[in-house]
Amino acid sequence: MIELSKSERKDIKVEINGRVYQRRVEARRLLSDFLREDCGLTGTHVGCEHGVCGACTVLVGGVAVRSCLIFAVQVDGQQIITVEGLDQDQWGVILQEEFSRWHALQCGFCTPGILMSSREFLSSHPDASKEDIKAMLSGHLCRCTGYSGIVQAVMSAAQRIKEESE
Ligand code: FES
Ligand code: FES
Repeated sequence: MIELSKSERKDIKVEINGRVYQRRVEARRLLSDFLREDCGLTGTHVGCEHGVCGACTVLVGGVAVRSCLIFAVQVDGQQIITVEGLDQDQWGVILQEEFSRWHALQCGFCTPGILMSSREFLSSHPDASKEDIKAMLSGHLCRCTGYSGIVQAVMSAAQRIKEESE
């Protein structure tokens, strides 16, 4: 349990996309602001800032987390993957290729969060059905696409990953 007053500062060290970042942050610094403003990783988008839209999703220790809902001090010593690091693994590359192929984005605001949730989801659901994928995506708001291209892209990525794993 971390006990700090709101304005107290703490040195933290985090590995993000394979690179170590060491920064002094206020106890109230959100992880989303830490990533974007302190580390310059602006691929993580911030929409609602209260856990509803999913745009700010990143992987912390391999788990999809809404970075607007946790403090930077809570991830001290952990490994984080943001959308900038998605091309460091083959599944992340496949996901991005399928989003491009199926035109699964327009303005792209929601896309980083959806990609990160999808990356985690495909790790734990190798045989995901269309309904499973839609349920996973229900935690993300997209104001542009109507979702069909996004669902198709994730289904297509799941299929390719399955074929390449056999
Ligand atoms: S900005 Fe974090 S869930 Fe919307
Ligand atoms: S592509 Fe614009 S909000 Fe999803």
